[in-house]
Amino acid sequence: MRRLQTVQDVNLREKRVLLRVDFNVPIDGGRVADGSRIRAALPTVRYLLEQSTKIVLMSHLGRPNGQKNPKYSLRPVAQELSAMLSRPVLFLDDCLGPDVAKTIDELDEGSVVLLENLRFYGGEEANDPKFAAQLASYGDVFVNDAFGTAHRAHASTVGVPALLPVKVAGFLMQKELEFLGDRTANPERPFAVILGGAKVSDKIGVIDALLDRCDRMLIGGAMAYTFQLARGESAGNSPVEPSRTEDAVRAIRKAKEKGVELLLPTDNLCTDHLDFAQKKVGELRTVAGPIPAGWQGVDIGPKTIGAFGGAIGGAKTVLWNGPMGVAEIPSCAGGTFAVAKFIADSKALSIVGGGDSIEALNRSGRADDISFISTGGGASLEFLEGKELPGVAILNWTTA
Ligand code: 3PG
Repeated sequence: MRRLQTVQDVNLREKRVLLRVDFNVPIDGGRVADGSRIRAALPTVRYLLEQSTKIVLMSHLGRPNGQKNPKYSLRPVAQELSAMLSRPVLFLDDCLGPDVAKTIDELDEGSVVLLENLRFYGGEEANDPKFAAQLASYGDVFVNDAFGTAHRAHASTVGVPALLPVKVAGFLMQKELEFLGDRTANPERPFAVILGGAKVSDKIGVIDALLDRCDRMLIGGAMAYTFQLARGESAGNSPVEPSRTEDAVRAIRKAKEKGVELLLPTDNLCTDHLDFAQKKVGELRTVAGPIPAGWQGVDIGPKTIGAFGGAIGGAKTVLWNGPMGVAEIPSCAGGTFAVAKFIADSKALSIVGGGDSIEALNRSGRADDISFISTGGGASLEFLEGKELPGVAILNWTTA
């Protein structure tokens, strides 16, 4: 069996460690608005400090398209990390150049340095060999803890490790792969999957792959309206993807063939007016079955919430990704919060991913009741789909 090597498999003592992290976090008014991704990397940083290494952290933030742009500076992240570690973190305001190389050369053991946003250079996303070689020169070994970026074949995720013989996973990477991989591939059963979000097109790969693994699949959010069309029921003015009804039909058929219990909403909270920008809705009404013209679904209805609660309550493994409705508007967030509570209350091994789902858990104060909260967005979905992640494939593996 192949096994990914981690920081515990190699001798790192007193080495210069180039640590790729995903510190792509929301910044508001020059401060980190949500430090979860930074916190998630702390076990690896602390372990490396115990090994008396010199740590050179590298990350991207946002999509500055190869241009230096202060809006996307990682400086606030260095401050936040320093506060979390209770030790200085030296921020370098570039990731290339002689000054950067010199500073890194002169570092003492136990130093933590954060380079400026890698995406200030086009070479990062283009996986430019010269750019990768410059970054690689800052380290003796490469550690990847950036699960959230592992689906990108960029210089810092693929180009750099290709140049260094020792390239291993950090603890966060290891945990993400364990929970989203092994724990859902060989789950304790019943295994319930709850998927929400706007588009069938975004999730169809995940739906298809997870139908091979789960016992129950619960579908909510706007993508459920495309499933409603696929079942021949009107979805009124709800956002639908008519070109994806065939995909939905295939998923319904596959669930039947595989004996997977597929729970689609039987009732929806609907409105006659939705102003997404202003976060306002008109009249709200629960509609069972077909949604009339002039009305659109904005959340799952009370009967559906009850059915979803039952299906989650009896499960031993639960995976949730995506909101059940327009969760940004409080009057349309009831279904999403109910699912968050059902999962937090359950004794199942619970795995949650996706910004809106995590926010609902955080806002209801129940994040600590979840077994594992994934830091990945697109990476989690691609991994659950069964795709190989380039940033993981390039690391050292052993055959045991
Ligand atoms: C993410 O937030 O999903 C990762 O940091 C990757 O960001 P990207 O989609 O801009 O590559």
